[in-house]
Amino acid sequence: MQLSPHKRGNVLPLPVVLISTISKAGIHNVAQWGNITPILRPLDEIVLATWLRRDTLDNIRETGEFVVNVPPAAMIEEVMICARNFLPEVDEFEEAGLIPRPSTAVAPPGIEGAVAWMECRLVEEITREKYALVIGTVVHLEVDDRHATAGGDVDFDAARPLCMVCGNDGIRFAYPTDTGRCALYSEMLAGKSTSMNE
Ligand SMILES: Cc1cc2nc3c(=O)[nH]c(=O)nc-3n(C[C@H](O)[C@H](O)[C@H](O)COP(=O)(O)O)c2cc1C
Repeated sequence: MQLSPHKRGNVLPLPVVLISTISKAGIHNVAQWGNITPILRPLDEIVLATWLRRDTLDNIRETGEFVVNVPPAAMIEEVMICARNFLPEVDEFEEAGLIPRPSTAVAPPGIEGAVAWMECRLVEEITREKYALVIGTVVHLEVDDRHATAGGDVDFDAARPLCMVCGNDGIRFAYPTDTGRCALYSEMLAGKSTSMNE
């Protein structure tokens, strides 16, 4: 079956995160995000794509800070509320019944009950005609101890972080399942220089 090129989101699962920010006026904002990814491993930058008319983008521009919260599937009801288009003066923590969690390195709070929290500072915005790419540095990263294994990994089967796949009628929410297979970093580098630039 051939699909229209704009349906590339129908064949590519993306993460679902909640981005928390604060406006210059001090209003808390939370919004769902799917177009977000770390920039290469093992660097500490991430990039997100945003339409230009987003309170999240306004707040990041104004304060230079944001928190990427990874919600578990158990938080789906609250996550669905955050997708609605609230006015900038509405506190979306209150609307969605989310509890703020004080951050360590940035002003915007994270969300209690998330699997993990990435506290970020704006590095650069690349602005196009209709959208922008926001590059941030992760300045503090934490995983809820309940979802951390003794070896320091994340127990994804237990945590069930949300992800999304676009369908013809809307966005379907899912979560990843561990296949039991693991590609070692050392295997990926076999026969190559260990330079991070490659
Ligand atoms: C699953 C999901 C993923 C989304 N991903 C994005 C995204 O990557 N970029 C974006 O600009 N909007 C995205 N949205 C839309 C915003 O979450 C939505 O417009 C929200 O109301 C924006 O809130 P804000 O104006 O407070 O920033 C997504 C919505 C959903 C339901």
